[in-house]
Amino acid sequence: MSDLAQTGVYPASAEFVAKAHVDAKAYDEMYAASIKNPEAFWAEHGKRIDWIRPYTKVKNSTFDYGKVDIKWFEDGTLNVSANCIDRHVAARGNQTAIIFEPDDPLSHEAQHITYAQLLEQTSRMANVLKANGIGKGDRVVLYLPMIPEAAYAMLACARIGAIHSVVFAGFSPDALANRINDSEAKAVITADFAPRGGRKTPLKSNTDKALFDCSEKVKCFVVKHTGDQTTWIADRDVDMKAEMAAASPYCPYAEMNAEDPLFILYTSGSTGRPKGVVHTSGGYLVYASMTQQITFDYHDGDVFWCTADVGWVTGHSYIIYGPLANGATTVMFEGVPTYPDAGRFWAVCEKHKVNQFYTAPTAIRALMGQGPEWVEKYDLSSLKLLGSVGEPINPEAWNWYNTHVGKGKCPIVDTFWQTETGGHMLTPLPGAIPTKPGSATKPFFGVQPVILDPATAEIKSETATDGVLCIADSWPGQMRTLWGDHERFQEAYFAQYRGYYFTGDGCRRDEDGYYWITGRVDDVINVSGHRMGTAEVESALVAHEKVAEAAVVGYPHAIKGQGIYAYVTLMNDVEPSDALRKELVAWVRTEIGPIASPDLIQWAPGLPKTRSGKIMRRILRKIAENDYGALGDTSTLADPSVVDELIENRMNRA
Ligand code: PRX
Repeated sequence: MSDLAQTGVYPASAEFVAKAHVDAKAYDEMYAASIKNPEAFWAEHGKRIDWIRPYTKVKNSTFDYGKVDIKWFEDGTLNVSANCIDRHVAARGNQTAIIFEPDDPLSHEAQHITYAQLLEQTSRMANVLKANGIGKGDRVVLYLPMIPEAAYAMLACARIGAIHSVVFAGFSPDALANRINDSEAKAVITADFAPRGGRKTPLKSNTDKALFDCSEKVKCFVVKHTGDQTTWIADRDVDMKAEMAAASPYCPYAEMNAEDPLFILYTSGSTGRPKGVVHTSGGYLVYASMTQQITFDYHDGDVFWCTADVGWVTGHSYIIYGPLANGATTVMFEGVPTYPDAGRFWAVCEKHKVNQFYTAPTAIRALMGQGPEWVEKYDLSSLKLLGSVGEPINPEAWNWYNTHVGKGKCPIVDTFWQTETGGHMLTPLPGAIPTKPGSATKPFFGVQPVILDPATAEIKSETATDGVLCIADSWPGQMRTLWGDHERFQEAYFAQYRGYYFTGDGCRRDEDGYYWITGRVDDVINVSGHRMGTAEVESALVAHEKVAEAAVVGYPHAIKGQGIYAYVTLMNDVEPSDALRKELVAWVRTEIGPIASPDLIQWAPGLPKTRSGKIMRRILRKIAENDYGALGDTSTLADPSVVDELIENRMNRA
């Protein structure tokens, strides 16, 4: 099976192709047009959303290091919230916009929120924000469960021109405080608790802890979701639901420029400090909506389910902005794939007759381990298409997804993209591009991938080749800057390969021109589909009083894709012990959050360093991968004996 998957080519059925928005001929023509004349292409496709003042300029961008500047539709004005709600209300006010599926299906009912109700709830929340002094350009941090109020909050900010920054509810108080401070947010919107998998994360008390380290002016709006008791600070905390009930049910929307920021989303890079990726309004919405419709071949009346969390970019583009801009019905799932049991995803697909299902390989691998009987219990005949995102999908997971979930009839779109890109970059368009398991296949419209030699930065122009993946020109969904630090933006993405946007990923192109992402080439790892900077975990570890030094690398992990392997050098007088290992794991969880917990900690009396003191991560990676036979050149090591000791005591002996 897996050999077939590795070499197979899977076209969609003739029936699927006949109904698809884009077939092979249309893809070739549209792609060529989008590259030959991006101005004309996007001038046309920019019209898919409503503009208050139509744009006359389309593209204005340069990737030249030192003057990187990216603008799309720059003289147009619009409101993103009005595009996602108001413009649909006349024709489909009673259509469900959001299906909310709660964590616990036994004690709570699903909710169907229509476009008319979405307008009212978003307006009420927008009015509450306004009444509390939030306006255009102000930053609002959202630290919420996957509940309808998270959607209202994003759309309410967009409605009044405030810039939201969603922080994943699994992040710690420290991580939350850093993001509030970096964005200089005026307010936080949180909830009492976040139920997930039957457990409750105390979001309000985490927020209280975070706010100790922030300006006392920061307001705290609290959605009483579970109704459990929390502390309350009278002058600071606002009961969001109570204020919404008292607020006016309509809020006019603000006229925003296409290039006004819509949101900031913090993501990991190769330094310890997360980067505040800035997306703006017009280009982002055009791109998110077009990719949602075309990549997933979404048709009016379909039910679309992206299982991501709104704390990540996938949730922004494919739970909220893309689907709602298209007048779709989008599922918002509060829970986890294995609660109350390992059939939950499929129970939800059956219950809501989901047509397109989009998840991450890590979830598929976890469910695969539970056996196919959990899938086969449910009627999945509504499914037309499956999607994958976050990491390359391995052939075994691909086969299982295809056979047991898709019953061999659903195209699988493996979408490669990033927080920075706003929407899909490389992806099969299901009616146009036959898939090859493990390959994100071809570029979306307007995307010009190039493969460069990492050593010489030369373009590798032969069809079958490999190297690092860069993008040669701008596309509308691209990030515009890093919040408050345009210098760092240029350094991170445009300095290494001049004239190109550098993705940070390695890539192979095969003889058919298909792209295969081979993984990050920087110090970013991908753990259960969550992006993590090894430097972030290192700074958390060295902040512990017993730790002298730490080096963190990724290693292959059967379910998570990559696991976190930490080499830790303790202070002189500290004895290593299993209890200390547990203490360090707990420490990292409180410093960053559970997603950053090291899977393996190896005590390292010394780390392999060059004579100038630089840690040789390449060697540490090899040892963590259990591939220490081929360490490569170790002649520059200051003390080669360190390596023998590390190999001797390696943790991953799989
Ligand atoms: O390494 C690539 C991997 O995830 C990184 C981006 O992570 P993040 O910004 O958190 O966004 C994840 C969801 C959009 C990329 O640099 N990645 C994402 N999708 C794929 C992938 N690797 C291989 N195949 C994919 N489909």
